[in-house]
Amino acid sequence: MPAVTPQILVSDKCPTNVDVTTVLVPVWGAEAPADKKSEDAPKPALPESKALSCMAEGMGLPIYAIAAEEKFTGTLAKTLVFRMPESTDHKIKRVVLLGLGEAKKLTLGKLTMAIASGLKAIQGWDEDLQKVGISLPKPYELFGGSLHTAEPLKTSITTEEITLAVTRGVFAVTYKALEAKKPAKPFAKLVYLTPEVATVEQTLPLAIALNEGRSLTKDLVNMPANTKTTQSLVDAAKSIADEFASVDITVVDDVAWIEKEMPCFYQVARGSVATDPPKWIHLVYKGANPTRKIALVGKSVIFDTGGYQVKPGDSMVTMKGDMAGGASVLGTLRTIAKVAPAHLELHVFLAATPNKIDSDAMVPDSIVNTTCGKTVEIRHTDAEGRLTLIDAVTLACKQEPEAIVTVATLTGAAMMAVGRTIALMSNCPVWGDLVHAGAVVAGEPVQALTVTPEDFENIQSKAEGADLRNTNKGRTRGAQTAAAFVMEGADEGVPLVHLDIAGADMTDDEKATAYSVGSLVHFLLALPAQK
Ligand code: BES
Ligand code: MN
Ligand code: ZN
Repeated sequence: MPAVTPQILVSDKCPTNVDVTTVLVPVWGAEAPADKKSEDAPKPALPESKALSCMAEGMGLPIYAIAAEEKFTGTLAKTLVFRMPESTDHKIKRVVLLGLGEAKKLTLGKLTMAIASGLKAIQGWDEDLQKVGISLPKPYELFGGSLHTAEPLKTSITTEEITLAVTRGVFAVTYKALEAKKPAKPFAKLVYLTPEVATVEQTLPLAIALNEGRSLTKDLVNMPANTKTTQSLVDAAKSIADEFASVDITVVDDVAWIEKEMPCFYQVARGSVATDPPKWIHLVYKGANPTRKIALVGKSVIFDTGGYQVKPGDSMVTMKGDMAGGASVLGTLRTIAKVAPAHLELHVFLAATPNKIDSDAMVPDSIVNTTCGKTVEIRHTDAEGRLTLIDAVTLACKQEPEAIVTVATLTGAAMMAVGRTIALMSNCPVWGDLVHAGAVVAGEPVQALTVTPEDFENIQSKAEGADLRNTNKGRTRGAQTAAAFVMEGADEGVPLVHLDIAGADMTDDEKATAYSVGSLVHFLLALPAQK
């Protein structure tokens, strides 16, 4: 995958002694109260940044005065650009102050967003001005907790997390879909300016690997519907296995095998066997000394038309992204393989098929089998994701993982409930919290929903001959009942964490976010080698 990886250097020197032409300096903000006159507006609180003090002192740069004159108060993501007087002592031509808003309200997600908007301004400049020094903010105490979490899971931000958040901002700006008319282009040069050189340098390989993984996920999600097939996911999976000796791959494309061994998944595939036959993809990463075994299962519906109960009009738009779960677990695996943690054995599963129709496609009122042996009454052909996942989860259990994480664009209900946020559900609060903590460190928006015994009760079928039904009775708790259905596939006692990314997989303007990749990577890397 041609992810554009920038070269990033790290330096604790004063920017005047570094070969950069532009310096980006994040600044804490103090919002001006709306009813106050501008002369009363508080001055921005400049961070204790070595980069800034070097420039201010060494070059006699009146930063406070300029900021006040320009009424720059450090509002989140607002920038103030000023040209440097020509000098023979240094190469700096532009300094960009970048607002971070109030320190107490800053989160890792907002930091990424601010860095991205600061860099976006620079991106349009000519090559020479794209030699950019980025002054990293100092680690600080966080009082407000993390965005989208009720409990303040985090009380401070570390140098490692700042490095990760800033690098995510860099990639957010340089990433372009493979189909884009103008290909992605890295900055001519990036230097992270920080007194913590060793810590930042140690974190960079993970930061870069993670963002390469995210780029792979985005490439697959962004791919147009008319060129995306089950083979696209197979190709991406194979290229990871080709790249890393630590990764093995098995692909089953024998439709008769799928019909027999994964009969519920097969129901979804029936409508497109002739045009885009299903694939069962299993990848495994093995570290040097694996003590922790985890399985990830990603919903991989190549395009979701809804089936015979076809999606009306506009609700079919964006359904090219219904394989975002599969794309996310591939991006996660790619990242893990690159970072190569010794303690992990990571199994990744994708049951890939479109949800389309031909004369053999599934119809409602059918009663079908599953790999786990439970029978399912088909109530809605558009509730197809759970039909693919229930069998995938059962086969994942055969590897005897300690826990399974499913990632899926599963329900419109999750999107209604949490918007562009990951909805996290689990059958085990301990494992749920571990994945939740991963999301917080990743700066990915996450919110927990609770799956109750009533949700399992709700999806019991009333039809004779069927155990489960693939829709909920009534109009409430669509996300939790879908999660309960998927959990029915897991062996007794296997912890399952379910991430419904129906709202989180794309931005408002329908660009892939790769949300869940960071959550999963941090969750996996944080597992101690010994249980
Ligand atoms: N892929 C959709 C869910 C979805 C909706 C993802 C919007 C992203 C944006 C899923 O297969 C689906 O159609 N779910 C139905 C289930 C219903 C028929 C029980 C839904 O949520 O409406
Ligand atoms: Mn559907
Ligand atoms: Zn779907």
